[in-house]
Amino acid sequence: MGAVWAVVVAAGSGTRFGGPKQYELVHGRAVLDWSLLAARAACDGVVAVVPPADLGRRPLPASRPPDAVVAGGGTRSASVRNGLDAVPADAEIVVVHDAARPLAGPELWRAAIAAVRAGADAAICAVPVTDTVKRVEGVDVVATIDRSSLVAIQTPQAFRAGALRDAHAGAGEATDDAALVEAAGGRVVVVPGSPINLKITHPYDLVVAAALLTFLGAP
Ligand code: CTP
Ligand code: MG
Repeated sequence: MGAVWAVVVAAGSGTRFGGPKQYELVHGRAVLDWSLLAARAACDGVVAVVPPADLGRRPLPASRPPDAVVAGGGTRSASVRNGLDAVPADAEIVVVHDAARPLAGPELWRAAIAAVRAGADAAICAVPVTDTVKRVEGVDVVATIDRSSLVAIQTPQAFRAGALRDAHAGAGEATDDAALVEAAGGRVVVVPGSPINLKITHPYDLVVAAALLTFLGAP
């Protein structure tokens, strides 16, 4: 079987958080380090994508450092492309993960990778939508959407390496990489994500993440 590489994107500026959230400590470890360790456990190689100003300045997990650290770009998609450039050409599968999701368990990584091995171009972690969803125009509700066919999408997202490279060849922009593969006509499937796999977006998410890590009995 060909090698599986992870691209962990951590080059955002954390505008909604109010600062570089990827370096915040949660349960004794930086948010980025939790993500890098999860990637290391699931993949053969790991590329970390960090803000250009932080290259070589911020400490990365000393025990199990990434294989490569590269500078990010101005958008998430550009950062993924920079990371992808550092993935060896013979990698079979590339898993893209937001550093801002430090709680992605090994079962999520495994499921996504297995679905690509089984033939999908992309396999992405999804959770059912639990809130009622409505379309609005200003303050006016114009429709209530049937949520039974809706899912919320997380990372990790696994890709056939060629499908991801092709999808990014057009320098497209999207909030996730699967959207670019969809647009290119690839087959994208969902695998079970987890409500525990929250994305650190606002400061209070860090409080929830710490509580969840304690609840999970994390070391
Ligand atoms: N990201 C990145 N490069 C960018 C923008 C985002 O690598 N130019 C990464 C972030 O570091 C994060 C992930 O993509 O791990 C998801 O992005 P998001 O949660 O939006 O993080 P930020 O862009 O940092 O936050 P904000 O949008 O609030 O500024
Ligand atoms: Mg962002």
